[in-house]
Amino acid sequence: MEMYLTGKTALVTGSTKGIGKAIAFELAKEGVDVLINGRNEAVVLDVVRELKEQYPMTNPLPAAFDIATIDGTNQLTKAFPEVDILVNNLGIFTNSDYFKLTDEDWKHYFEVNVLSGNRLAQFYLPKMLVKDSGRIVFIASEVAVMPDEEMPQYSMSKTMQLSLSKTLAKLTKGSKVTVNTVMPGSTMTEGVVEMLENWFPDSTEDLVEKGRRFMSENRPHSLIQKFIEPEEIGRMVAFVSSPMASAFNGAAIRVDGGLVPTLY
Ligand SMILES: NC(=O)c1ccc[n+]([C@@H]2O[C@H](COP(=O)([O-])OP(=O)(O)OC[C@H]3O[C@@H](n4cnc5c(N)ncnc54)[C@H](OP(=O)(O)O)[C@@H]3O)[C@@H](O)[C@H]2O)c1
Repeated sequence: MEMYLTGKTALVTGSTKGIGKAIAFELAKEGVDVLINGRNEAVVLDVVRELKEQYPMTNPLPAAFDIATIDGTNQLTKAFPEVDILVNNLGIFTNSDYFKLTDEDWKHYFEVNVLSGNRLAQFYLPKMLVKDSGRIVFIASEVAVMPDEEMPQYSMSKTMQLSLSKTLAKLTKGSKVTVNTVMPGSTMTEGVVEMLENWFPDSTEDLVEKGRRFMSENRPHSLIQKFIEPEEIGRMVAFVSSPMASAFNGAAIRVDGGLVPTLY
């Protein structure tokens, strides 16, 4: 499907690995110039190089800033004052014992998973509204609507993203700007590989076995009973970022392999 995205500029936060990287590549495939973000400059430059090699007609640029901080965000927005598409993908996650979580843990998740994207939206949304053009996409998770007792602070942060995204969508009323959320289910990324190691600390199973066990024991509702590939999320984000998705606004879109068992 022609997405009419050629020549647009997108900032994808947390895009040196996993879902963010896949989103960046799917957007570049559609001709988008992507700003690659992560905290490690060398890694960011490697991804920019890889992207340029694969999609030479596009102009990917490095945006190596720690956007969990106000300083890092200010540096990024100063370097890149305009974008057509903002994908708030950055998010941290781990399994945690609720009874051991401290206030600092809760605040950290709020800072990284909610405030980072909110700061960027607060900066870019007014500019998009003036241009009457733009897309903001939050990457939440199925736990936004199905909180996980093994990831309490993460679940909270993802539900907050849904609320925030809906509020921002309301601020676009009557314009051609849209704000939506994509909710991936369990997706096989570098972050998940690390999470699986911690989930079964004493297991001698290989990654494939651990993944299979995780799905059957911890995600029994999944209809596909396998981890989603990051590209599958990337394709949906490219669509939602395109003019073809003009009727999607304030939506929470599930790409979860049927994980959420409810109708809504
Ligand atoms: N994987 C899943 O199963 C799954 C399911 C549902 C939702 N999600 C959501 O999808 C998003 C991406 O998850 P993922 O699994 O792809 O993550 P990931 O593999 O852990 O990748 C995280 C990315 O974020 C960057 N990053 C981390 N902290 C940063 C900071 N402070 N500033 C800038 N960049 C930073 C990392 O690079 P550096 O470390 O080099 O900075 C890396 O590029 C998250 O919001 C997550 O909640 C994931």
